[in-house]
Amino acid sequence: MADTNEDWSSNSNEAVEISLVVPGAGAPKALHTFNPKFTYPIFGDEETIFGYKGLKVNLRYNASDMRPSLQITWNSKFKTVGETEPLDVKAVLEPYLPKTALEKTSIFNAAITDPMYKDWKPPGELWKTIQSGDQTFEVWKGSLADLAIQQMVKRIQILVPLFIEGGTFIELQDPEWSLERWTVFFLYEKKKGFSEAVSPYLFMGYSTVYRYFYYQSTASSRQRPKNQLISNEAKFDFKLPLNNISFNSLPCRSRISQFIILPPFQHGGNGSRFYNAIFDFYLGEHQTMEITVEDPNEAFDDLRDINDLSRLRTMPEFLALKVNDSVKIQRKGPVPRDILDLEKLEAIRRKIKIAPRQFYRVVEMQLLSLIP
Ligand code: ACO
Repeated sequence: MADTNEDWSSNSNEAVEISLVVPGAGAPKALHTFNPKFTYPIFGDEETIFGYKGLKVNLRYNASDMRPSLQITWNSKFKTVGETEPLDVKAVLEPYLPKTALEKTSIFNAAITDPMYKDWKPPGELWKTIQSGDQTFEVWKGSLADLAIQQMVKRIQILVPLFIEGGTFIELQDPEWSLERWTVFFLYEKKKGFSEAVSPYLFMGYSTVYRYFYYQSTASSRQRPKNQLISNEAKFDFKLPLNNISFNSLPCRSRISQFIILPPFQHGGNGSRFYNAIFDFYLGEHQTMEITVEDPNEAFDDLRDINDLSRLRTMPEFLALKVNDSVKIQRKGPVPRDILDLEKLEAIRRKIKIAPRQFYRVVEMQLLSLIP
């Protein structure tokens, strides 16, 4: 029986494999191999690749500096008939990867065995070391205006469409002052067991955060008599920044834009560790008034709720919150705000820098948990 089109089609989520590798005897050794969650942004809604049998699209990453290498292999390739031709997989992936990813495998193999790796450190600066049992994690951070950070982002940004639904690339061609708005955080495990020739750093995930305008109502508008009308411009005491000089000195919201923990490291508390480390950074940064998240998905909402609630529960003033006993609370519905001491709550919220919607969601979780 003749082959059908289906026989020549591969599921792109299965054909694409991502590996974290370290140099091994002869060839690189894969420490972890996993598939992407989505490939439709790259290969189309059907998530299929036409024209091959036994297709493997292996995107190997050096586990420390995430230097990528793309290897495409197949058992047989469809012979073009008229306009029906095999997909040029390399050409489709090219816009998502730096040029070095498309170099010969031998160049990649030689590059990752460079003795300089034993002293290699992630780009940017070390923000936090986290010890958990016998594991050591490090969170590094740097500005997107830094070329070493940009190089790293170019290597790993393909992970955004592969793991975040609707995730898009950051525009790296923007002027420097605009790139300065972005901070990139990296999560690493610092291994002890690797051989001396290999970097101890194992990349686990990354997150991008950008400064966003923070609108504040003026003191005069707060004191304004209720019946006095004011124009829209007078309502807020902000000016749109024209350049880095004005922007970098303004109070801001710091918004988590992309956040990824690679699959081999998920469900082990790493997302929480990383989120809390980023949160701690902005809590101590005077310019940031609120920490927000851009389009969180359900999994991130869960992670955020659990960790925001744990953080708030370390504050005695939060633990002291009580719902007015005389008001009967429905378990199903949200707790009405008018039964809470809003002034007290706002003071807690400003101190902990959680944006209003998220804060009141977590307050409701706390109060509902108090109902016997
Ligand atoms: N007590 C109880 N449960 C906890 C606690 C705690 N203290 N801490 C964490 N958990 C649970 C969570 O409820 C969750 O449960 P699950 O395993 O049943 O899912 C689990 O532990 C996950 O928490 P972590 O292990 O800390 O998080 P993880 O490392 O799995 O990271 C993340 C979660 C970031 C969503 C990861 O799965 C991921 O990167 N996914 C792909 C990309 C993605 O979806 N990113 C977010 C997109 S939104 C954005 O980018 C803004």
